Amino acid sequence: MRIDGRDYRTIWVDADGRRVHVIDQALLPHRFETLLLLDCADAARAIGEMKVRGAPLIGVTGAYGLALAAWRDASDAAIEAAYALLLATRPTAVNLRWALDRMRALLLRAPQSARADLAYAEAARIAEEDIAACEAIGDFGAELIRKAARDDRPVNILTHCNAGWLCAVDWGTALAPIYKAARAGIPIHVWVDETRPRNQGASLTAFELIGEGVSHTVIADNAGGHLMQHGLVDLVIVGSDRTTRAGDVCNKIGTYLKALAAHDNGAPFYVGLPSATIDWRIADGVKDIPIEERSPREVTHISGRAPDGAPVEVQLTPDGSPARNFGFDVTPARLVTGLITERGVCAATEEGLKALFPDLAS
Ligand code: MRU
Repeated sequence: MRIDGRDYRTIWVDADGRRVHVIDQALLPHRFETLLLLDCADAARAIGEMKVRGAPLIGVTGAYGLALAAWRDASDAAIEAAYALLLATRPTAVNLRWALDRMRALLLRAPQSARADLAYAEAARIAEEDIAACEAIGDFGAELIRKAARDDRPVNILTHCNAGWLCAVDWGTALAPIYKAARAGIPIHVWVDETRPRNQGASLTAFELIGEGVSHTVIADNAGGHLMQHGLVDLVIVGSDRTTRAGDVCNKIGTYLKALAAHDNGAPFYVGLPSATIDWRIADGVKDIPIEERSPREVTHISGRAPDGAPVEVQLTPDGSPARNFGFDVTPARLVTGLITERGVCAATEEGLKALFPDLAS
C-alpha cells in the first residue's frame, strides 16, 4: 500500500538480506516510523509490545525472528530457544505457531551451515504466500460486496479492529475485499468500530482508509447494533485470529457482540481469513482457544495526541478501580454467514472448510 507516495509492506528485509524492518504500529496514526529488528529478541519485543500486530503479520514476524536467530547461531539449541521465546509472545493468533512450526521443522532437518539462508528464504515465502492469500480473499470478498450493491446508496460495511494491510504483509483480510471493491468502482462506505481498549479501528483502520481514499466513519464500539436496527449496515466483515475446524471464529474482543447484533437484524456476517488462521486441531473455540489477557492499564488509560502533536496518555478510571483486559472473544460458527478464504467463500462448518482445504484438513 502507498504512504506519502511510496509503496510499503508492513515488513521487509534490508539490502544486506539479514536485518528486518517493520512499521512501528504503536505510533500510528500520528507518527509514521519504521523499526529495525536486529535479532530474535527484537522481533519478540515488537510482537509482545504490539509494534507489529494482527494475526498474519505476527506469523511472518515470528518467521523472520527465527531467521534472525539462525543468522546469529544456527545450532539446534539456539533455534529451540528462539522458537520458545517467540511463541510465548502472544497466545491467541494461531498464525504465530503455524509459522514457527513450519520454520522449525525446516531448519532442524537442514545442515547447520545452510540454516540461515534457508530461514530467510522460507520467511520470505511465508510473506509472499500471505500477500497472495490476502489478495485472493479480496477478490472473493469483493464479489460479495458487488452483490450487495444498490442503486440508491453505497454498500455500508461494518468492520471491527484492524484487519487491513497493517495486520498482514499487504492487502489485509477483512479490508482486502473493501479495497478491491473500491478499486472496482463499487460505491462503499465503511463503519469503523473504534475497538477499545487499544483502538485499532480508530487509529489503524481509519489511517488505512484515509490513505486509500475509502469513505468511512469511525463509531463508538457500541453503536453497531443501533446502526443495524436502522438498516444502515449491509454487511459485516471482520478478520480472524484463529478459526476452528468447525468454523468458530476468534477475533478482537467485541466481535461476538457484533455477530449477535448482526444475527438479530439479518445483516450478513462474514469473516476474511487466510488458511494459516485455521486451527484444525480444535472444534470448540469457546472451550479451546486461549484468550490473551493484557495489561489492565490499556483499559484504565487511553493514549492519543495532544494539540501540539506530542503523544499523551490520560487516565479514565478513578484511582483504585480494578480493570481486566481480555484481548479476544469467540464468535460461534452458527452466527457466521460465511468464511472468505483464499480458495473461495464457504459455510462456517467443518464440511465447508474441508471442501475448500481437503489437503490441509487432518
Ligand atoms: O490485538 P491485535 O491488534 O493483534 O488483534 C488483531 C485482530 O484482532 C485482527 O482482527 C485479526 O488479527 C484479524 S486480521 C487477520
